[in-house]
Amino acid sequence: MKVVLFSSQSYEKPFFNAMAKKNGQLQITYFDEKLTAQTAALAQGFNAVCAFVNDTIDKDVLSQLAQLGIKCVALRCAGFNNVDLAAAKEHNITVVRVPAYSPEAVAEHCIALILTLSRKTHKAYNRVREDNFDLNGLLGFNLHKKTVGVIGCGKIGQAFVNILNGFGANVLVCDPNVGEGNYTQVNLDILLAQSDIIALHCPLTESTHHLINDAAFAKMKDGVMLINTSRGALVDTKACIQALKSKKLGYLGLDVYEQESELFFRNHNGEINQDDVFSRLVSFPNVLVTGHQGFFTQEALNEIAKVTIDNLDAWYRNRPLKNQVF
Ligand code: NAI
Repeated sequence: MKVVLFSSQSYEKPFFNAMAKKNGQLQITYFDEKLTAQTAALAQGFNAVCAFVNDTIDKDVLSQLAQLGIKCVALRCAGFNNVDLAAAKEHNITVVRVPAYSPEAVAEHCIALILTLSRKTHKAYNRVREDNFDLNGLLGFNLHKKTVGVIGCGKIGQAFVNILNGFGANVLVCDPNVGEGNYTQVNLDILLAQSDIIALHCPLTESTHHLINDAAFAKMKDGVMLINTSRGALVDTKACIQALKSKKLGYLGLDVYEQESELFFRNHNGEINQDDVFSRLVSFPNVLVTGHQGFFTQEALNEIAKVTIDNLDAWYRNRPLKNQVF
């Protein structure tokens, strides 16, 4: 089976090569290019396409892939908001994904963002290297007894809640699809009003697009911390900037950004950033942005490669698909 892998990064090749070797039937060709309407033609001569979070898998791309005889798109990620599923169905293209490669990787990154913002270890690191041991400006707060609101308590949300329980935080959860657990279930308005820290772990859908907007900020405590490691468009970035300026938002930790597909996963050093909203966002001292690295652990990369190759193998051999998106 010949697979073309788009948006390839050097760090993932060893994991995919090792798993492909183990499989024995699978040949992977890596392209650095993102999958778009302009690059879809590169899939000519392959059996399947392997894509990532910021690849474009819309109607146009799927129609081009169908014309090239591609019958399977294997996402090497959990989210599938970038896929036009109706168009995939129309073209009889099977879409598979990696639903849970390491929920703990993302949950732990979320904790890293919270602790960095609160305890300012990034600032301390620089100060100490310059022999500056002044503590002014580094004052943090305890997580113990803080109220943390978790919006979406699926695999990642639950892993995050488990860690928070260890900190002795008071955990509120808003998720229409979960039962009782090691948290207090509340509705969204109560969560927004009572939380000192709000973390987003729900998927991006039409109904969750800009879930955090001006109206949501108005319901929050002054100085609240917001953490988004889920998908950028859950948050209205312009509303965030207003909330930061008015000090409603005291801390913002992002691993995802609404317009990230133009920026993330590439080195733009030396270029002029054309995204004024992003530039404004990172100019605030209480904002920490990481470039979609929540998933980025050895354990997760290994699991992503393993499940993606198992998915492709099962599809190729016409075996039942555990991880089909529709
Ligand atoms: P999951 O499907 O296990 O859980 C999502 C939960 O959100 C479900 O329990 C669902 O009921 C809930 N939900 C849906 N709509 C909601 C709403 N309007 N309000 C409250 N809850 C709602 O998904 P999982 O694996 O926990 O992943 C969550 C998200 O994390 C993914 O959709 C993806 O966007 C993001 N992600 C980010 C990564 C990163 O590297 N930063 C890596 C992997 C996933």
